[in-house]
Amino acid sequence: MTPVAAQETRFVLGDEQVRSLAAQFGTPLYVIDEKHLRDRARRFVRAWDGDVSFASKANCTLAVLKTVYAEGCSVDAASEGELRFALKAGVPAAACRLHGSNKSQAELDFGIEVGVGKIVVDCFEEIERLVGRNRVPDLLLRLAPGVDPKTHSKISTGQADTKFGFSMADAPRAVARCLELGLPLIGYHCHVGSQLLDPEAQITGAETLAKFAVAMKREQGFEAKFINVGGGLGVRYTSDDRPMEIEDYCRAVRAALDEALNGELSPAFGMEPGRSIVAESGVTVYTVGVVKTAGTGRVYVGVDGGLSDNPRPVMYSAKYDLVWHSGSSSGTKTVTVSGKHCETDALFADVQAPTGVAAGDLVQVLCTGAYNSSMASNYNCYPRPATVFLRESGEAVVVQKRESWEQLLQRDVLPEGL
Ligand SMILES: Cc1ncc(COP(=O)(O)O)c(C=O)c1O
Repeated sequence: MTPVAAQETRFVLGDEQVRSLAAQFGTPLYVIDEKHLRDRARRFVRAWDGDVSFASKANCTLAVLKTVYAEGCSVDAASEGELRFALKAGVPAAACRLHGSNKSQAELDFGIEVGVGKIVVDCFEEIERLVGRNRVPDLLLRLAPGVDPKTHSKISTGQADTKFGFSMADAPRAVARCLELGLPLIGYHCHVGSQLLDPEAQITGAETLAKFAVAMKREQGFEAKFINVGGGLGVRYTSDDRPMEIEDYCRAVRAALDEALNGELSPAFGMEPGRSIVAESGVTVYTVGVVKTAGTGRVYVGVDGGLSDNPRPVMYSAKYDLVWHSGSSSGTKTVTVSGKHCETDALFADVQAPTGVAAGDLVQVLCTGAYNSSMASNYNCYPRPATVFLRESGEAVVVQKRESWEQLLQRDVLPEGL
């Protein structure tokens, strides 16, 4: 097993555990550690004086949703599907927030019917889709505060050029329209971006919202009761990443809000972390199937998963740390770990592997608890992996079954006579 740094904050399986889980459940396999997850959720709830809404898009398995809710988080659902998962996990509708860009009439009506606690409104069309509905819940307007989060462009959302939310130029009109229609507007929301290793963008986003709230009080007499600053705190994908501690991050964002509000308003505060609650609690285990040397001399280590269970390396050039479980322990060499798909899915380029890495060895990829199982696909008709929960008792239980061939084939229909 490759040694892991002493100050490791990520969950890491021991050598024996990896081997026994792979033997019992097969690979590729997602593993989530319950204790680690509970600790992260609990730290957020303690550190943030307000609502901590777990962004369920990060990991929407019922077991994760139930666990974070039990630790005091509400649940942010970015679609009707995510909302249905939260409800099935036993999260009361009132503790769910319905989010998402371009919510359809049907999605909004479903949220209202089940009684979600809040809806985050993304555009003027959504405002109009709420007109005439009974029991509309508390509403937040999602604003794009126009800050550059300095993260990967595909996870930047708060800049001025974005499809998400109301531009700051349109925001006063959105407030006015809600008031004119008598809709239950309570405040504002923003999410500037994800995997933020520097809190500056988040702080600027929070300040922009707070200043806007003060301006709306002065200009339109509307007093915001709630401000949600979104998610985004980064995690340790590799040991070079230095994310802020949860407590420091919450303190810095809160201080910025208080300062910008300048005692003129005293709303409640919300936050929406996903990745920073669950990413470090999860690992993925793969089996090596092939080791080959390309014409250039590059060594490819092929594993039994890839793009369909972790699209992040291809989508975001994401990097990860690996822990090898190999029969060979004499030194390391540089290899590229590739996936099984008919794409150039170099999962992890130029990483160190044991010199004698061979078919049958196992490799554990750290920090895969977020945006892996929830972003998995069936590309190349691969069934999606199982997720195992490592209970605090040490027992390993399946919380998401490995997809079967039958399940994979059941959606398709051959019309008669074709
Ligand atoms: C609106 C919103 N809230 C919260 C999150 C969660 O972000 P993260 O997982 O980086 O904390 C996202 C991520 O895309 C988002 O779009």
